[in-house]
Amino acid sequence: MKILVVGSGGREHALIRKLKESSKVEELYCAPGNGGIAADAQCLPIQTMDIDGIVKFSKENSIDLVIVAPDDPLVAGMVDALQAEGIKTFGPNQRAAEIEGSKVFSKDLMKKYQIPTAGYEIFADYDSALSYIKEKNEYPVVIKADGLALGKGVIIAQNEQEAVTGLQTIMQDKIFGASGNRVVIEEFLTGPEVSVLAFTDGTTVCPMVSSKDHKRAYDDDKGPNTGGMGTISPNPYYTEELADECMKTIFMPTIEAMNSENRPFSGCLYFGLMITPKGPKVIEYNARFGDPEAQVVLPRLKTDLVDIMLAVYEKKLNTLKIEWSDEACACVIMASGGYPGNYPKGIEIKGLNEKAQVDGATVYHAGTKAENGKILTNGGRVLGVTAKAKNLSEALDKAYQAVEKISFEGAMYRKDIGKIKSI
Ligand code: AMP
Ligand code: GLY
Repeated sequence: MKILVVGSGGREHALIRKLKESSKVEELYCAPGNGGIAADAQCLPIQTMDIDGIVKFSKENSIDLVIVAPDDPLVAGMVDALQAEGIKTFGPNQRAAEIEGSKVFSKDLMKKYQIPTAGYEIFADYDSALSYIKEKNEYPVVIKADGLALGKGVIIAQNEQEAVTGLQTIMQDKIFGASGNRVVIEEFLTGPEVSVLAFTDGTTVCPMVSSKDHKRAYDDDKGPNTGGMGTISPNPYYTEELADECMKTIFMPTIEAMNSENRPFSGCLYFGLMITPKGPKVIEYNARFGDPEAQVVLPRLKTDLVDIMLAVYEKKLNTLKIEWSDEACACVIMASGGYPGNYPKGIEIKGLNEKAQVDGATVYHAGTKAENGKILTNGGRVLGVTAKAKNLSEALDKAYQAVEKISFEGAMYRKDIGKIKSI
């Protein structure tokens, strides 16, 4: 088969590495890919949001399956455009992707179908949002931009001043553009967080092994939210009892709710959960693999990923038994100095050659580019240094050993990924 992956980050690199293991894959393409992906797939000069370009290339080159990995092209309807031309896809269509594209939509869905989540109100104008917060006068309060915001659209305000500033930046300064036209203001929940990605064809839902992201930029969960600074799998807090409960109260009800709304979801549905004293609740849905969750979940997948994706497309997921390794996996993100704010690009990365790497470690490239035989930084999150081992502490040791061998000016990474106090 000829397979095309749309996207350019560490998640896409992890997908491509897993696809390479399949005997069904003859040719692998990535649009646009990055400096590391170029060693594993043919990178195409087509940007992630270029729907016409992706459709044209897929038609002209008889691509057998297109995997749309990032949120923006899913929300913009790339899957719909490909399917209209009869091209097989992995990923939800535009109506189903709204579960991630609009927090207002997802919160209203959960309320309507009694799926446990934080209590909330929705506001479309700054003044009424502000008076609601002032009247309620309960802190912390959580303020979320309605639309996509690179994982940065959530503000947890500890007091009125922070709430006012947060509301202003989202609704008045519009730092996330039209994503900030409406806000969700919600109750602050506490408890450990768990990410569960699930394959679903709209009828059957197959949760993958659990994982845990570390969203804050600095150690001890300090600093601003990022797209994710590191992950571990499995998540030590996610017991079998919890998994059973989530299947009954969250996973199946969500699939059924989407069907009832005539928005059947096909692809990878990501459940961001918080295990509160009152049980598991949904913090957010994503319509795709998480990044960097994919980097620790996919290496543990034993079943052929192409078989799974085709079964999802053909709505035959119930015919497959998906198997996972019992090993643990850890991923440490090396980011550019300054991320998630401004950061420089084009800095040479040293220590990436195979020999310098640690046995069992894999370096997924996120924001890199290849130039004149060198690998240069080209984004905020630069590398996902990942290791698999028989248990979590070994996986973490190996991942950090590999991190030590890699360097670039200004590199920053968290030293406490997978440490119990931070999870
Ligand atoms: P999100 O982008 O919706 O996943 O939110 C980013 C992070 O903000 C989450 O991973 C949580 O750590 C935190 N968060 C979001 N909503 C809440 C909430 N209602 N209560 C407490 N923390 C939250
Ligand atoms: N790591 C969280 C996300 O992919 O949204």
